[in-house]
Amino acid sequence: MNWGMENRLRRILDPSDGRTVMLAVDHGYFLGPLTGLERLDRTLEPLLPHADCLMITRGALRRAVPPAMRIPVMLRVSGGTSIASDEAGVSSLSNEALTCDVEDAIRLNAAGITASIFVGTEHERQTLTNLTALVDAGERWGIPVMAVTAVGRQMARDLRYLSLASRIAVELGAHMVKTYFCDGFEKLVEACPVPVVIAGGKKVPERDALELARRAVDAGAAGVDMGRNIFQSAAPAAMIRAVRGIVHDGLTVDEAWQLVEPELAR
Ligand code: 5RP
Repeated sequence: MNWGMENRLRRILDPSDGRTVMLAVDHGYFLGPLTGLERLDRTLEPLLPHADCLMITRGALRRAVPPAMRIPVMLRVSGGTSIASDEAGVSSLSNEALTCDVEDAIRLNAAGITASIFVGTEHERQTLTNLTALVDAGERWGIPVMAVTAVGRQMARDLRYLSLASRIAVELGAHMVKTYFCDGFEKLVEACPVPVVIAGGKKVPERDALELARRAVDAGAAGVDMGRNIFQSAAPAAMIRAVRGIVHDGLTVDEAWQLVEPELAR
């Protein structure tokens, strides 16, 4: 047993239920100052007490998070692309490299490291070998690796594609997978023998986001790695508490909604 690896996994995933509420705020690595993340320090302050884990880049961690924070960090270590070059047709978002070495991840006391894979794109091989390099480093130093099944612009977020990408990530050694929810999600989980968390995706009405979290957990997800549907909500702290209630406390959508609705009406 790799004690460090096991310990880090149990810091990311609550040992009492094997689930996690991961707060994703890494979007700036290719989107720049996304709405809600301009002043990351202010955004994080009311949310961190309710998060099990924080997904973030090293630059943002150093600049916006006080070292006294006790929440485990899932460090985003892939990037090198931007929405600007993608929109200009100069490059594509799938053209990622690894952007942080494992020594710096250790220096930052990362509980996990994460990179995107773009299966079915021109950069499939490059992003999959990014993942395998990371898994080699993670195994060497006892740091779990989470693969993010990113989706190219033309790719459908359906069971066929997402389960293909998720299973490939596991076969290549990923310790966790982050993917999107889709119809038939329980089949994806069944074929993916590591903890699977879902991304929230673009901002949708709060109740819809709670419904997404409920359906994902019911289908076997180990929780969420949610960003925009929390920090872009008009009631972000209520949203993360409601999501937490769903992931850890078995709240129904109606029960969780009762935590959010009054705060939205203020
Ligand atoms: C970007 C990411 C984000 O962390 C991810 O998309 C989660 O955030 P959201 O819930 O806003 O989709 O991995 O590539």
